[in-house]
Amino acid sequence: MNRFAAVLVGVAVSAMFLGGCKKSGSSTSVSTLIGIAIPETHVTRWVKDGETLKAEAEKRGYRAELQFGDADQSIQNRQIQTLLGLDAKLLVVGNISDAIAPVIAEAAQKKVAVIAYDRLIQNSADYDYYITFNNFKVGVLQGQSLATALGLDGVDPKAPKSIALFAGSLTDGNAFFFYDGAMSVLNPYIEKGVLKVVGPYPKTSADKDNFAKVATEGWQGTVAKARMVGLLKEDAKSVTLDAVLAPNDHIARAIIDACRADAKYKGGKLPLVTGQDAEFESAMLIKAGEQLSTVFKNTSKLAEAAIILADQILKGQEPEIPGAVLADGALAEMGNTGKKTVKAYLLDPVLVTKENLNIPIDAGFYTASENEALK
Ligand code: BGC
Repeated sequence: MNRFAAVLVGVAVSAMFLGGCKKSGSSTSVSTLIGIAIPETHVTRWVKDGETLKAEAEKRGYRAELQFGDADQSIQNRQIQTLLGLDAKLLVVGNISDAIAPVIAEAAQKKVAVIAYDRLIQNSADYDYYITFNNFKVGVLQGQSLATALGLDGVDPKAPKSIALFAGSLTDGNAFFFYDGAMSVLNPYIEKGVLKVVGPYPKTSADKDNFAKVATEGWQGTVAKARMVGLLKEDAKSVTLDAVLAPNDHIARAIIDACRADAKYKGGKLPLVTGQDAEFESAMLIKAGEQLSTVFKNTSKLAEAAIILADQILKGQEPEIPGAVLADGALAEMGNTGKKTVKAYLLDPVLVTKENLNIPIDAGFYTASENEALK
């Protein structure tokens, strides 16, 4: 090969090489891995969240690796370390508890961005972004649905309505917002004497001892059901409960199950029970008049928004997410991890009762066969 030919070959080879590099380098999206860590599957919304996040990432040309943590932070920590080992460049994480903080620190050391998904990662200063719904408003909607259905504005204090209170897991910061939102609506009625609490009554989540009594460890339905069975036998023995504040659909169904098995409610009028997540099984109960309400959080939109945010972060762009609002003023507190205030992007929750069950249906939240059943 003469020198001229050798140069030509060299040029061609380096062009090929550069071309190859350019391909993976210029469109970060072709090969960049996004790690997705989902906390649990016993609350079914999370399965859908995980699958939608993965699909949204792949739709935008990323590779995505999805892990489910089985409501156990030590399992999820190992999964996150695996994702970091696979060279994930960004993590979308719905955590279980603040025992996640050390692996978030590992991600930060590797310059891997983390988006706290739906649940704030508490006690960490090692990440910058959080995307969720307005969780205080979720609680407000639950409280309002009870106030309306019980007709609390027209109740005579001589014949007050009765309610039992349930909250979510103490390890999940959202549980505090949901409860405080609901009680911001219900407390004035309790103070007026038209609503009477049966069992423990933490006025807000700040009443730690009583809040622990109404909380549900790990958001487990079995735990809530056992507590409801106990309440029916003891504190609520001599009253007929008009309502139960339940923080989500999974717990609502556990409470309804406990009531259905109780002689006093069996085959008769169940208490009015709130919920959250618009899970299909609860939508069916709402249709049947056995669960009062749920709060629809369009998690397909949340997952899409999280991946739009991920894409903008990976491209070094200033985040701007359609349908999500950057929390400011008092709402910015939602991003306070206890060590730093991260940017919190909020989507809007919607109250769903029998009257507007079409909202999640029309939003395409259910499968075709589920839609059929809900008709
Ligand atoms: C979520 C709820 C869910 C609960 C239990 C919360 O952090 O916001 O939608 O029902 O966890 O999984």
